[in-house]
Amino acid sequence: MVLNIVKNAIQAMKGKGEIILRTRVARQVTLSRKRHTLALKLQIIDNGHGIPDEIKDHIFYPLVTGRAEGTGLGLTLAQAFVHQHGGSIEFESRPGQTCFTVMLPFSNEN
Ligand SMILES: Nc1ncnc2c1ncn2[C@@H]1O[C@H](COP(=O)(O)OP(=O)(O)O)[C@@H](O)[C@H]1O
Ligand SMILES: [Mg+2]
Repeated sequence: MVLNIVKNAIQAMKGKGEIILRTRVARQVTLSRKRHTLALKLQIIDNGHGIPDEIKDHIFYPLVTGRAEGTGLGLTLAQAFVHQHGGSIEFESRPGQTCFTVMLPFSNEN
């Protein structure tokens, strides 16, 4: 899941740039209407060209790709994984800065 996102970041940087992986513990977060005492907050940030505007709205759908040799499945699978585990995935992107934020609950307690 993380690898799919990191791979996109590497491809967006075309050989030069920086990727930051930031992990935090988040407390008392609500994810898909469930309240969790603890969650993992993972951010994958790169300074590549950014997600093209024309695909921003459907980037998580299958077969949506901005690359000639892309499959458009990486983010679909990453999102499916995150949702299966009761988490969330979102992004913010502009040229020079893209950030994917993944939240994953540590437990299902209420
Ligand atoms: N960090 C990123 N920077 C720029 N564009 C991105 C980034 N992550 C995803 N994208 C865009 O989203 C598209 C879809 O990604 P993905 O679902 O992994 O499919 P694929 O990598 O096979 O194209 C990519 O082709 C790319 O255009
Ligand atoms: Mg990909």
